[in-house]
Amino acid sequence: MGAAADGTHGDGGGAMVARLRERARARRGAIGFPDAQDTRVLRVAAQLVAEGSAARVRLYGERAALVALARTVGVDLAGLGAALEVRETDGAQRLAAAAEDLQRGELDAVLAGNLATTADVVRAAISGVGLAPGVKTVSGSFLMCRGEAAGRAAQTLLFADCGVVIAPSLRQLVDIGVESVRTWRALVPEAPPVVAYLSYSTKGSAHHETQERMAEAARLFATAMPDVASDGELQFDAAFDAAIGQRKAPGSAAAGRANCFVFPNLDAGNIAYKIAQRLGGFAALGPILQGLGKPYSDLSRGSTEEDILASAYANLLRAAP
Ligand SMILES: CC(C)(COP(=O)(O)OP(=O)(O)OC[C@H]1O[C@@H](n2cnc3c(N)ncnc32)[C@H](O)[C@@H]1OP(=O)(O)O)[C@@H](O)C(=O)NCCC(=O)NCCS
Repeated sequence: MGAAADGTHGDGGGAMVARLRERARARRGAIGFPDAQDTRVLRVAAQLVAEGSAARVRLYGERAALVALARTVGVDLAGLGAALEVRETDGAQRLAAAAEDLQRGELDAVLAGNLATTADVVRAAISGVGLAPGVKTVSGSFLMCRGEAAGRAAQTLLFADCGVVIAPSLRQLVDIGVESVRTWRALVPEAPPVVAYLSYSTKGSAHHETQERMAEAARLFATAMPDVASDGELQFDAAFDAAIGQRKAPGSAAAGRANCFVFPNLDAGNIAYKIAQRLGGFAALGPILQGLGKPYSDLSRGSTEEDILASAYANLLRAAP
């Protein structure tokens, strides 16, 4: 079992996904799938309703075509009764129509991107849902999960931005940190967020404008969220490993115990999550689009049904209670 939203499954997403499912069941929200002309989504829609983790599922497209497609994989959409809604839309309008329904409060979350590109999903979300109050940046985080193993406790970490902002400005780096904390609190309420702004340097061990930028972003973040433990700039080992953190950044509020990692740019964030996934055995749940007024999120086009289910739970939980 894994929660890898784009490919290889790690060994450890299962327990985290089970927790998300249980919490989604307690909420029983309504979720929309604009990219519904896809057997993966049709099976997921049926499962969400059957297991009670969504009270309603809204699909976009032609009802007859969706019913026929579902039948090819043994899903009886009519059997879902009133829990299934179909909004008749043509393909070009589906992303915008779902944003409209979310904005009107008819849905708690929308999940697209199993067919549409990230850029199209992000644009539809920004224009249809808008940004969260006080935020100017939409970014994409991944919840990275790895199970318990010999000599190692289970781990849940958040990486951002791995999916949207190619070359973030200082202001955008602060927004990415603030929104990552919000995502963390919605999905991992059992642990306080600890934020690290990452670099190739720890606390001035190297001097260059790129390292100084992350140090400045960390300072601005600490001013914006003084109640959250944070630090930067930190190298990943100093941020993650207690002994190295103690050696390289003694007295730091985040070194050695960070769980939310802000990367300097999209190259770094995207490469890092894939390395953790492919070499580190982490399951990667996401990309979770953060910074929007309501949860309108993205999927990789390579998502499996398990990935889509995990993202559905996560996004239902990000809706305002
Ligand atoms: C998401 C993305 C398409 C936005 O591109 P863009 O060219 O800036 O978008 P547009 O010009 O269409 O912008 C539309 C509006 O949204 C705003 N906008 C774009 N990206 C934004 C963001 N991340 N946060 C907030 N607003 C954003 C723009 O400022 C613009 O606003 P305006 O109309 O008021 O000027 C671009 O950042 C991108 O391609 N990112 C990489 C996505 C990707 O390929 N990921 C794959 C790796 S997993």
